[in-house]
Amino acid sequence: MSNGDVSQGRRRFLIGATSVVGGVGVVGAAVPFVASWNPSAKAEAAGAPVTVNISKIEPGQQITVEWRGKPVWIIRRDEAMLQNIEKLNEKVKDPQSETPQQPPYIDGIYRALKPEIAVIVGLCTHLGCVPSYRPEVAPADLGEDWLGGLFCPCHGSKYDLAGRVYEAQPAPVNLEVPPYRYDDDVTLTIGLDPEAA
Ligand code: FES
Repeated sequence: MSNGDVSQGRRRFLIGATSVVGGVGVVGAAVPFVASWNPSAKAEAAGAPVTVNISKIEPGQQITVEWRGKPVWIIRRDEAMLQNIEKLNEKVKDPQSETPQQPPYIDGIYRALKPEIAVIVGLCTHLGCVPSYRPEVAPADLGEDWLGGLFCPCHGSKYDLAGRVYEAQPAPVNLEVPPYRYDDDVTLTIGLDPEAA
């Protein structure tokens, strides 16, 4: 595939991120002030933690927020999704996520502080395209063995719903899990470690 394909993947992210940010309204409201920010304030904002209310995410639903210029996906996984992740332990390259693609306080097959909520950077670890969220089981284009996951359209890398890459894919490692913490049951902050970490 050409670089054009990679750019296309990134462009898709930009479009998606814009719509989500618009919906949340926080960054959109700050835009008029951008011109008066000094460089250090801009730099700080670019790396600033992002707080998200997850109460409206339905089981099976995925939303995208932007953190440090990257799309971060939050997925509410239902019981069937969690069971399917477990079934794929033999098919993924690094089932226990031993390669450090997540903070040290994230471990196990679900790669999350709470199994039902996944927080994953939506950039393929091959060349950085944005994978597609494909939660359905056995769709015609991905085959009857597909148990729901993330599919990269650029060169076909497949990940499960924990962002674990399947064996024999162009992508070398699992998707990144960013640092994050729960401020309360329905509020996450991406970019900050849990207090006790
Ligand atoms: S960028 Fe190549 S498979 Fe995702």
